[in-house]
Amino acid sequence: MKTLVLVFHPDLKNRSNANAALAKAASAMPGDAVTVRDEYALYPDGRIDVAAEQRLVEEHDRIVLQFPLYWYSAPALLKEWEDQVLAYGWAYGDGGEALNGKELTVALTAGGPASEYQHDDGGATIDEVLAPYRMTARYTHAVWGEPFTVFRSMELADDELAAAGEAYRAFLGR
Ligand SMILES: Cc1cc2nc3c(=O)[nH]c(=O)nc-3n(C[C@H](O)[C@H](O)[C@H](O)COP(=O)(O)O)c2cc1C
Repeated sequence: MKTLVLVFHPDLKNRSNANAALAKAASAMPGDAVTVRDEYALYPDGRIDVAAEQRLVEEHDRIVLQFPLYWYSAPALLKEWEDQVLAYGWAYGDGGEALNGKELTVALTAGGPASEYQHDDGGATIDEVLAPYRMTARYTHAVWGEPFTVFRSMELADDELAAAGEAYRAFLGR
């Protein structure tokens, strides 16, 4: 199983604890089964190399979209990536079956605690927040995988970050 981890954090190098720890743990996995890419560093001007991204997706069996939760959604480049890369005739429509049978899932860090993501007082669960990704998997005939989530992402001590990295490696190694 070849896994592609696409990290969408606006400044993974300088302004990230949680996503940087996860990306580092994923990058240190042995062999070439896991490819990790810092998408904002690759495309600082937001101009995505669509052909290169599509080729990478084609070469992998599992696509993990990793990002910090921003306003119950993702940093803007991930939306741009979806709009550009998941093109008509490639991801859907007119023979577009590039994701057919691949696993698509999300690795998410959230500043809030898990208890914040439930139905009391008009709230929503993380599964509900992630509905656009689940629906995208469904529409492109990908298999929606169980998401990986890290809560309280801004409060994690070093040992908690290390544990999250280990859990992520186990998740990616499945
Ligand atoms: C613009 C912005 C919006 C955010 N929105 C949310 C949110 O809707 N829910 C939440 O739990 N955390 C939210 N956060 C907190 C981020 O999820 C948190 O900073 C991130 O997971 C930390 O990861 P990092 O250390 O890799 O930057 C937001 C942070 C920013 C900067």
